[in-house]
Amino acid sequence: MKRLVIVSNRVPDPAAGAQAGGLAVALGGLMEKHGGLWFGWSGRVTGAGEAERRGVRRARAGAVDYATIDLSEEEHRRYYNNFANGVLWPLLHTMPELMRYDRSDAEAYRAVNKRFAAGLAPLLGADDLIWIHDYHLLPLAAALRGRGVRNPIGFFLHIPVCAPEVLEAAPEMAELLRDLLAADLLGFQTEGDLANFVAAAQTLAGATRGPLNTLLYAGRRIRLGVFPVEIAADEFARTAAEMAHLPQVRRLQRSLDGQKLVLGVERLDPSKGLLQRVDALRRLFAARGEWRGSVTAVQIAAMSREGVESYQTLRAALDRATGALNAELGTPDWQPLRLVVHGVARPVVAGYLRLARVGLVTPLRDGMNLVAKEFVAAQDPDDPGVLVLSRFAGAARQLEAALLVNPRDPDALADALHTALRMGLEERRARWRALWAAIAPRSPLLWGQSFLAALQRAVALKIPAIAAGERLPLAAGERGYAGTGERLRLSARLSFDLHGGEHEPTRPAVTGKPGRLLN
Ligand code: F6P
Repeated sequence: MKRLVIVSNRVPDPAAGAQAGGLAVALGGLMEKHGGLWFGWSGRVTGAGEAERRGVRRARAGAVDYATIDLSEEEHRRYYNNFANGVLWPLLHTMPELMRYDRSDAEAYRAVNKRFAAGLAPLLGADDLIWIHDYHLLPLAAALRGRGVRNPIGFFLHIPVCAPEVLEAAPEMAELLRDLLAADLLGFQTEGDLANFVAAAQTLAGATRGPLNTLLYAGRRIRLGVFPVEIAADEFARTAAEMAHLPQVRRLQRSLDGQKLVLGVERLDPSKGLLQRVDALRRLFAARGEWRGSVTAVQIAAMSREGVESYQTLRAALDRATGALNAELGTPDWQPLRLVVHGVARPVVAGYLRLARVGLVTPLRDGMNLVAKEFVAAQDPDDPGVLVLSRFAGAARQLEAALLVNPRDPDALADALHTALRMGLEERRARWRALWAAIAPRSPLLWGQSFLAALQRAVALKIPAIAAGERLPLAAGERGYAGTGERLRLSARLSFDLHGGEHEPTRPAVTGKPGRLLN
C-alpha cells in the first residue's frame, strides 16, 4: 500500500493553526481523501538555535499526519523573504528588475532545504510516493537523493517559468535546475512553462531531450508534464450562491446603491499588475463619463510578504495611485476605487465575486490564477458577470471566452472594461457557458490524482527503454508535450489509486484542441 507524502513550504498545521495559501487549499482535498503525510514549515519563526533544537513536530488530523519544522528568524528572512520571494519569485515571473540577490541568501535557502531533507528522510517508508511543491523547494529532491532516498519523487511548480536568458540572472540557477532533475516527474501549469524549463535545462544544466516528453540527465530519464491546477467548480458555485446572503455581502451591495461592481481580489504582489489596473481605471473614468457614479471598483489586495522590500514599495505606490485617482475623479458621494489591503475570508470573497459585474484579473504574469476560475464558478448563470483576464495568466489558456487583455496596455484594459460593462445579457451568458464548460469537469482532486498516476508511470517506464516515436500515456487532465506529428491532447484515460496504481476513469473523456508542438 502506497502512502502519499506531500512536501510544501506552507502546511495547514492543525496544531499551530498556520494560514494555508492557495497551494494548501488545492492539496487539502487530495490529502483528506487518500490520507498520508504532509511535511513542511510550521508557520512559526523562533529564536536562533531554537528551531533546530525543537526538531520535527508531529500532529494528526483525520487521515493526515502532519510533520512540521520551525524556522529561525534568520532562516525565514534569508530563505523565505530574500531568496524564495526576493529572487526566485520575481525572476520566474519575468520581473528580474525586482530581484535583490545576495549569495548568502542563496546559501541559506539551500541550507533550509537540507534541513527539510534531514527532517523528512527518517519519516519515509520504502513504498512512499513523494510529491514536492513549488519554488521554495527546488533543491529538495536532490537533497533527499543525497540522503539515500530512492522513492519516486514528483515536483510541481505552481508559478510560471521565465525564458532561460532571464532565469540565468540568478547565479545558482544551473545548479538548482540540476537539483530538480533528481525528481522522476516535473509538472508545470502550462505548455509555455514546460517549454521554458526544457530550454533552460538544456542550455543551463546540460540535460538533453529524451524521447517524447522526457529529459535525459546523468544517466536518468525525467518525465515532464503539464497539469493545470483546478478548482472544485460545483462546490464553489454553491458556496458563492449561499454566501451572497451573508451580511457583509449584503452591506457591500447596499453601499453600491445600484452601481455596477468591478472587482479584483488577490494578494498585494508586484506580479499582479495592480498599478496598471489603477491606471486603466483612471483612463476609463476619465474618457467615459457615463461610468462615473454608475460603476465602483473594489480592489482587495491583501498585504503579504511584508518582509520583502518590493512589497513594501508596491504598497506605498498603490496607496498613492489610489488616493490620486479618487482625489482627481471622485466626488463627495462617489469614489472610483475602494482599496482594501486586509485579507477577506474566503466565503465572503465568494459572495463578493457573485455580486461583481466585472471580474478584473490582470496579473503581469501568473502561474495559473485560481481567482479567475472562482469568478466564473461564482456567477449566476442567468445573469453572469464578465471576466477581464490577463493573457499572461496560466488560466487564460483554458478561459479563452474571457475578455483577454495585455495588462501592460492601460488603454486596452480600459477599453476591455468598457466593453465588459456594456455587454448585453446574451453575450454574457454565451461567454459564461463556454467558461463554465472549461472548468466544470475538472477538480483539484482529479488534478492531484492525474499527477500521481503520471508519477507512478514515470517510475515504471524507466526500466524498459522507450522506443523513438513511442507515445507515452497521459493521465486524466494531463497535457504532455509531444514529438513530431503528435498532437497534445486531454484524455481522461487514467486516474490514480494509491492502493494499486491505475484504473478506469469515473468521468467521461475530454478531448482538447491540438496544442503547441514543441519539436
Ligand atoms: O504558488 C504560489 C503560492 O505559494 C501559493 O500557493 C500561495 O497561495 C501563495 O503563493 C502564498 O504565498 P506565501 O506562502 O508567501 O504566503
